[in-house]
Amino acid sequence: MDSPQEIRGKTLVVSPLKPRHAQNRNSLADCRFLPFIVSAGFIFVANSKTTHKKRGEPEALKQGKKTETPEKDTPSLDICARPRRNRKSGSIRNLVRETWLLPGDLIYPLFIHDKNADEQIESMPGCKRWSIPGLVEEVRQSHSLGVGAVMIFPAIEDGLKSPFAEECYNPRGLVPRAIAAIKKEVPEVAVITDIALDPYSSDGHDGVVSPSGEILNDVTVEVLCKQALCHGAAGVDIVAPSDMMDGRVGAIRETLDEEGHTNVSIMSYTAKYASSFYGPFRGALDSAPRGGDKMTYQMDPANSTEALRELILDEEEGADIVMVKPAGYYLDLVSLFRENTDLPLAAYQVSGEYLMIKAAAESGWLDEEKIILESLLSVKRAGADMVITYFAKKAAEILSRT
Ligand code: PBG
Repeated sequence: MDSPQEIRGKTLVVSPLKPRHAQNRNSLADCRFLPFIVSAGFIFVANSKTTHKKRGEPEALKQGKKTETPEKDTPSLDICARPRRNRKSGSIRNLVRETWLLPGDLIYPLFIHDKNADEQIESMPGCKRWSIPGLVEEVRQSHSLGVGAVMIFPAIEDGLKSPFAEECYNPRGLVPRAIAAIKKEVPEVAVITDIALDPYSSDGHDGVVSPSGEILNDVTVEVLCKQALCHGAAGVDIVAPSDMMDGRVGAIRETLDEEGHTNVSIMSYTAKYASSFYGPFRGALDSAPRGGDKMTYQMDPANSTEALRELILDEEEGADIVMVKPAGYYLDLVSLFRENTDLPLAAYQVSGEYLMIKAAAESGWLDEEKIILESLLSVKRAGADMVITYFAKKAAEILSRT
């Protein structure tokens, strides 16, 4: 049975594993039906003694002879429900398939740097730090395979990092130039930018750090608003605050609207967990915290009800899309959000998830292409509308030929 919870006057369903279509059905455990279930059980057990037993070994088989009509003599169960009928051919499986993975569901995160050449990323084999021309070409290629959205993450030179991360709202900075280049060359592609201070912070934190080491919420939100505004002015389609400061979605919405950027959407990292699966990403941007960890702002991996509180706040504050991150190990959260919001739902298959698949494939232990599709399909089946994945281009390419 579901256990409805009241949070701020809203009734929430806290049963992440129950499929949506089963929500309104009477559960077998419903006590009104108990007498029927018990007596049906007796009838079933009694029956199975007679009709469910195998019909004995066919004579022909006993004698080692081949029979002309094996079906007639083979053992058969007296059952009318045979779910395998719906799996008997590719065409029928297509008809009954509940979840589809399409290139248009995928968002492609791309790393950039302010250099002329593209560079392999050591901590993420198969990914590059792109120059702006390299980025534009990669966006063009993935778009031609059907990937309609990209997310950009900048690697910032050490000399431009500072305690207050001022570089994050420099109108001539790397990200605004990258946004403008993509919007000029491949305007149909939706550009999403990360809103957080870590790539620009000399402390490697998503927020401003006080002398005593505290991550200052409200001071940070002011900087994040400037960053969002700077990206809005450069032509971004969606800003994605990944910092987990309180009140940032509402503040960013207000700032964007005041400056006339009412068309810029907000994709909020609503339930972003303090996860060790982000390690390779921090290597790609050299953005790991210089001291401490991110536990005072990112969520404790032990909690899920707390994520519903974040969800309600983000809805109230005007988020257009909500997100769960990481994806694969947090599918219960994806289902929980699906049950509790009508907003579009994104999930982020993060760098550590990417790397685990990559490593297993490279050592020949797993079939890379099949695992990529299965891992992404599972995120959609759990309830996500879109998946952010470093495999976006590769998955689209696989889908185009399978
Ligand atoms: C920055 C940010 C991170 C990721 C996305 N945005 C790193 C972090 O929070 O430490 C992680 C993405 C990944 O691991 O793929 N705030």
